[in-house]
Amino acid sequence: MIKEIRPAQSLKGTLQLPPDKSISQRAAIFSLLHEGISEVGNYSTAQDPQSTLSCVQQLGAEVQKENGKLIIKGTGRKGIQAPLKDLDCGNSGTAMRLLSGVLVGAGVSAKLMGDESLCGRTMTRIINPLEKMGAHILARKSAYAPLFINRNEPLKPIKFELPIPSAQLKSCVLLAGLFGEEVTQVIELLPSRDHTERLLNLDQKLVQGRKIISASLADEIPNQSYTIPGDFSAAAFWLVAAAIQKDAEILIENVGLNATRNALLKILTEMGADITVENEHMEGAEPAGDIVVKGSDLKAIEIDPKMIPNCIDELPVLAVAMLFAEGTSVISGAEELRHKETDRIMAISKMLKAVSANFEEQEDGLIIHGDPEFSFQSAKFESFHDHRIAMAAAVLSLTGKAASKIKGAECAAVSYPTFWEDIDQLRI
Ligand code: S3P
Repeated sequence: MIKEIRPAQSLKGTLQLPPDKSISQRAAIFSLLHEGISEVGNYSTAQDPQSTLSCVQQLGAEVQKENGKLIIKGTGRKGIQAPLKDLDCGNSGTAMRLLSGVLVGAGVSAKLMGDESLCGRTMTRIINPLEKMGAHILARKSAYAPLFINRNEPLKPIKFELPIPSAQLKSCVLLAGLFGEEVTQVIELLPSRDHTERLLNLDQKLVQGRKIISASLADEIPNQSYTIPGDFSAAAFWLVAAAIQKDAEILIENVGLNATRNALLKILTEMGADITVENEHMEGAEPAGDIVVKGSDLKAIEIDPKMIPNCIDELPVLAVAMLFAEGTSVISGAEELRHKETDRIMAISKMLKAVSANFEEQEDGLIIHGDPEFSFQSAKFESFHDHRIAMAAAVLSLTGKAASKIKGAECAAVSYPTFWEDIDQLRI
């Protein structure tokens, strides 16, 4: 689908976002592991969380909808069933990596499939530790899905220092570890999103600035009865869209505010954005609140590479903010962006090139020479079938002089099915 986006004079209104994608997927998987009933409120209808939900049903979870909640009857760790068909993870790296950990832990054999984008993303990072735990994994070219997962020997606990700050990798190893008589430990040097350890209430210790998270069969899996807050990564598009538009004002209600996810708030505020957080509260184990953002003058920023894991999914749209900020902004230490739904450094570069921006692509990031007066007539953007690239291009399109086009725009539904309606609702 080619989406045409007209410029907006300004953006105003109140929004409720799609439910958090990372938490939704964990709610489904952890409800499978819980022996009993979980009542999950506000489960996401986006494609990735729906892929995960159908996989956990194939593994034995019973799912019903009641009064807007999902009632999930889990099998518990001992009752997970071998799936009759392949597990289709669609576009979701989180589904494939977390479910691999569950299958290895449970000793259940299965084939994990994905779409073309997911089958092009390396799985070596999870294959290595899972094989150390006793798994036998057959992968295309030893690295890519489809993955055939098997474990014929006893599960071995490991002490695993994360080679990259990845929450998917951390969660994968911890989930396998939850099935072991002895304790598996994951050691994290830089904090990545911590939904898994929060929602499973896992033991965590800080030792000399490193976080050590432990998991074993002795850990009870809590029920997953809570309401999922709005997705901060979806809020990111509106935070930037409003910050770069004169007189814009948007109220975003009930957004997840987990500190391992929301570095963009700090970054934009440091850039001079007018952002206030109100009504802070807890939704189960996760902090949430309302955010008000208004149009303002932005100045350039150099992002501390240590913050990258806490804004990794927001970088495509942050690049758009940098384009309108006075001075030279730098994103570095973000090589991981090349391994997302597409090579996002390449995709951001193509987006910036389409509007003749002044920037340089680096192996691990971007240098963007911004200008508050930056303007372009109209552009043709390519989504590269990546939801976050399509939506970042839409935010940029709102600032053009005439309508721009985005090719492959339907992929926004991977995380944000109502994105295009929300643009129309806010546009003035
Ligand atoms: C996710 C973790 C991040 C993020 C992805 C969702 C998760 O990936 O980019 O969109 O739910 O754990 P990595 O942990 O691999 O960096």
